[in-house]
Amino acid sequence: MGDQVGEQVGRVSLDGRVVIVTGAGNGIGRAHAFALAGRGAQVVVNDLGGAVDGSGASGAAERVASEIREQGGLAVASTDSVATVEGGAALVRKAVDEFGRVDSVIHNAGILRDRTFGKMADDDVTAVLDVHLGGAFNVLRPAWKHMVDQKYGRVVLTTSSSGLLGTFGQASYAAAKAGLVGLMNVLSLEGARHGILVNALSPTAATRMTEGLLGDLADRFDPRHVAAVATYLASEQCELNRHILTVGGGRVGRIFLGVTPGWYSGPEPASPDDVLGAIGEIRSLDDHIVPRSGEDEVALIQKVLGA
Ligand code: NAI
Repeated sequence: MGDQVGEQVGRVSLDGRVVIVTGAGNGIGRAHAFALAGRGAQVVVNDLGGAVDGSGASGAAERVASEIREQGGLAVASTDSVATVEGGAALVRKAVDEFGRVDSVIHNAGILRDRTFGKMADDDVTAVLDVHLGGAFNVLRPAWKHMVDQKYGRVVLTTSSSGLLGTFGQASYAAAKAGLVGLMNVLSLEGARHGILVNALSPTAATRMTEGLLGDLADRFDPRHVAAVATYLASEQCELNRHILTVGGGRVGRIFLGVTPGWYSGPEPASPDDVLGAIGEIRSLDDHIVPRSGEDEVALIQKVLGA
């Protein structure tokens, strides 16, 4: 879709930075790879090259890497599967062997096995969890060591409105995508003191994964809209941590978790009838906060109890 490395100058720079993009052989990841290379990054284009359901393999990663190189960018291909510990380790080793370091990881690889819950095969659960959620652990655990040593890193995880808000027929996919937000919540806390910032993207883009799903506006959802935001999040200029940015068709917004002060039953345990009676107050979103960690909820509870 009109990807170009080109000559681009701007405030967001990845000059000299090494970025791993998983699932960069197609769709959104491919757009990420071009956008990053356009800002000077040395890109490790990782892709197993399978079909949408994860089956098979092709030369997608090598195609993207050589196109970037032909346009004057810096890129190498990796065909390691992120779904295994060994694949993740080999991918990070490749980045270090080729370019000497790892500055940013964009974990974007993904597969789909849409089926309603009652009809899922065992493999529809494990294969999806292994690529999306397992993949994040398999790549980030070896990459983390390098980022901690160099006291710098940027991590971009790819979540989904399916995981955060729900989509019919996507139980394993949604659970994996929500799991990535749990991972972000912890890594953003653990990484901050090492100069590592961790954020997530919730994209909408016209790719083979969304074929036939975006209706009349499909051609407005160019993956490059998402790639611009990913490039920013992967850059030194990004100072955000623990944000979920929702991106598609040129709109960029934020998805967040809120916690309400809720209802206080008093020091004695409430009865189920008390809970029933207070359900309106319990459900109310009034005065909610957007916590920066679990500690913020503890502080809120202390405030409610002290009031
Ligand atoms: P896509 O199918 O075009 O790209 C996904 C890539 O991941 C493929 O090239 C595939 O070969 C690769 N991949 C799959 N398993 C792999 C493995 N084990 N190791 C390495 N690479 C592997 O799909 P698209 O749309 O570009 O999706 C990119 C990411 O964005 C995915 O994580 C997807 O779940 C997510 N997403 C996409 C949305 C959209 O609107 N297209 C909506 C919400 C989330």
